Amino acid sequence: MQHSTALVAVAMALLVAFAAAAPSGHEITALPGWSGPLPSRHYSGYLNISQTKRIHYWFVESMNNPTTDPVVVWMNGGPGCSSLDGFVYEHGPFRFSEDGTSLVRFNQSWASLANMLYIEAPVGVGFSYATDSAYACNDDQTAYDNRLAVQTFFSLFPEYNQHDLFITGESYGGIYVPTLAESILQATENGTYKGAPLKGIAVGNGCTGNEIGVCGGERDKYETEYLLGTAFVDPSLKDAIRAACDFSNSSVPSMPCQVLLNKMHNNLGNIDMYNIYGSCINGDSNQVLRAPLGKTYTDIRGPTACIDSILASNYFNRADVQAAIHVQKPVERWSTCGTAPGWTYNSNRANLPRDSYPYIIEHIKVVIYNGDWDTCVPYTDNVAWTSGMNYPTKAAWHPWFYNVTAEGVTSEQVGGYATVYDKNDFTFVTVRGGRHEVPETAPDKALALLSHLIHGVGF
Ligand SMILES: *[C@@H]1O[C@H](CO)[C@@H](O)[C@H](O)[C@H]1NC(C)=O
Ligand SMILES: *[C@@H]1O[C@H](CO)[C@@H](O)[C@H](O)[C@H]1NC(C)=O
Ligand SMILES: *[C@@H]1O[C@H](CO)[C@@H](O)[C@H](O)[C@H]1NC(C)=O
Ligand SMILES: *[C@@H]1O[C@H](CO)[C@@H](O)[C@H](O)[C@H]1NC(C)=O
Ligand SMILES: *[C@@H]1O[C@H](CO)[C@@H](O)[C@H](O)[C@H]1NC(C)=O
Repeated sequence: MQHSTALVAVAMALLVAFAAAAPSGHEITALPGWSGPLPSRHYSGYLNISQTKRIHYWFVESMNNPTTDPVVVWMNGGPGCSSLDGFVYEHGPFRFSEDGTSLVRFNQSWASLANMLYIEAPVGVGFSYATDSAYACNDDQTAYDNRLAVQTFFSLFPEYNQHDLFITGESYGGIYVPTLAESILQATENGTYKGAPLKGIAVGNGCTGNEIGVCGGERDKYETEYLLGTAFVDPSLKDAIRAACDFSNSSVPSMPCQVLLNKMHNNLGNIDMYNIYGSCINGDSNQVLRAPLGKTYTDIRGPTACIDSILASNYFNRADVQAAIHVQKPVERWSTCGTAPGWTYNSNRANLPRDSYPYIIEHIKVVIYNGDWDTCVPYTDNVAWTSGMNYPTKAAWHPWFYNVTAEGVTSEQVGGYATVYDKNDFTFVTVRGGRHEVPETAPDKALALLSHLIHGVGF
């Protein structure tokens, strides 16, 4: 009896010692393309959330103060796109060099303020997989699995259990982020959640459900309103559209309206729906760009989806990179938006502003942001549902500011526009010059936005 108690005590002590630190086997000791030590500690590996599901994560310790800075989860969308897109193109500590063979420091990394946790979700996306290849996914299961992934992370990194937790993401992350937050808040209330306390979320250019907004059958309504404000459409066609299209009653265009909308889209050319003022850079490394030099694509209805995976695919399909980040080679090549064979996704959440946001806003800080160079999920959509929550306004539409240093002088410049509501400071902000993936074209503003969120500073 005594003997076994002692053994248990030893086992407990070992467990505690083991549990008190990050998993050393997951630490990235060197990254191909980067020479010398990493700017902060990085960990990459799998979160085993069930017998069969292996969720890949990449954790970047804060380069500021990892022992006190919050943990910020990041989720890209799709569904079917990898959160490593955020790591390499948006706010990770590195960007690719011009030819993609090396990594260069990126100074507006979110890891300069926070401990960043990138999660590739759900299984079948990126390096995440299921040992039984069961890849029929949906919103509810993904929210549950993402909570298990967060909890598993904190069981591997218990030293972060007392930090503040924030969840951020964009695009279809507009579903992932609030549904994960809702799941964590409910589990917190019923005492089953194990992990750092959730303090807030931020969603950029996000979807809101299968029956609302551009992701829910209302694309013509919000996209048209957006495009009529650009310099891309013949003014006489704009007038005709304004006269023929009334979306106040129905988001389905009338026949005469549809004819005019087709005319508009057929004349836009191959502008990138995610970045209307940028170039269309599209494809994996083994595909061509959308519009190679000398070719025309008159059949492309604009705006068109240009998904850049060229340098990231080159990099993440390298065997030495996969070994360095402790991941298994996927069945198909890794790509920014690529999934395992047989992967399906059922979007089964209908209307998050109606069904989930009131509960979430009651409990934590919520910032809905929108890069204003995007037609995929344009600001016209996000502004409509946020104002449609019908909370009293605390601070009406106004510019928000961030600091810019140029030619040796620091000045406050307009980051975008904000509306703050009198319900736990629920906030909608635009980011001036932000594309669908805001930090790609507006890195300083995006970093300022993160700072507002995690430091609880209003806009
Ligand atoms: C998670 O699963 C992987 C692959 O099955 C395995 O190699 C690893 O040891 C597991 N990790 C933990 C902490 O159980
Ligand atoms: C980025 O930060 C590094 C280290 O602080 C600095 O040496 C470098 O000049 C910065 N680069 C740019 C483009 O500001
Ligand atoms: C607690 O809440 C979570 C999230 O909604 C749910 O999955 C779980 O079943 C609940 N557990 C209990 C014991 O009520
Ligand atoms: C909305 O639709 C109803 C029924 O189809 C119609 O009676 C009404 O006039 C419409 N309102 C507007 C503003 O078009
Ligand atoms: C800009 O920098 C100044 C000086 O550090 C500071 O007082 C001010 O609050 C900053 N403004 C913003 C918007 O961050």
